[in-house]
Amino acid sequence: MPRVRRSSTPPIVGQQRWRRQVLPTLRGTILDIGAGSGVSAALLHPGVAWLALEPAPGRRLAAAVRSRPGSQLLTKPAERIPLEDASVDAAICSTVLCSVADPALTLTETIRVLRPGGVLVFYEHVAAAPGSTARRIQRLASPLTRLLDHGCDPCRDTADTINRAGFSHVHLETLRISGVLGGLAPVIHGYAER
Ligand SMILES: C[S@@+](CC[C@H](N)C(=O)[O-])C[C@H]1O[C@@H](n2cnc3c(N)ncnc32)[C@H](O)[C@@H]1O
Repeated sequence: MPRVRRSSTPPIVGQQRWRRQVLPTLRGTILDIGAGSGVSAALLHPGVAWLALEPAPGRRLAAAVRSRPGSQLLTKPAERIPLEDASVDAAICSTVLCSVADPALTLTETIRVLRPGGVLVFYEHVAAAPGSTARRIQRLASPLTRLLDHGCDPCRDTADTINRAGFSHVHLETLRISGVLGGLAPVIHGYAER
């Protein structure tokens, strides 16, 4: 089973640190859901097979895939993952469940393609507390972020979606990032095992 390092490492405080701590621990065939420009690739172990799923791939992602032997670009949405059941060892969701059209279906598909015991590792920004000023600002900003930022909806309760998805075990932590932006975009990270 891919490992997620948890002890004797500095606490995770941001996305780049999360990537550096978690991604190198994954092994086998790795599905990178909503791979973006392919930033994960450089941090994965050289021996893994990287499957970059991205419905709107740009030149940087195509180049990253070409430069990594054994990798593959899958230009399909996460709601319809073009892979066999139980065919991947681990999956990555890094600020993606805010953007996909249907997060619950994305996770159903993720569970389908993970082998038994395989894990999803995730780092996602989520809705602020109901009734808070941050939540009101998120709601006001969401038409703009949906339009301009890969369909990103800042008001999603992604922790709940992950917890209800049907994984056998979920380990989820909420990060408290200081500053105005931290308040506006609370973050969860962790792993979920099929
Ligand atoms: C904020 S970016 C994150 C990119 C990358 N995972 C990272 O960590 O930098 C969100 C990505 O999700 C992709 N995306 C949006 N809808 C998607 C869908 N239905 N299926 C798969 N990817 C999707 C976008 O094209 C974009 O590349």
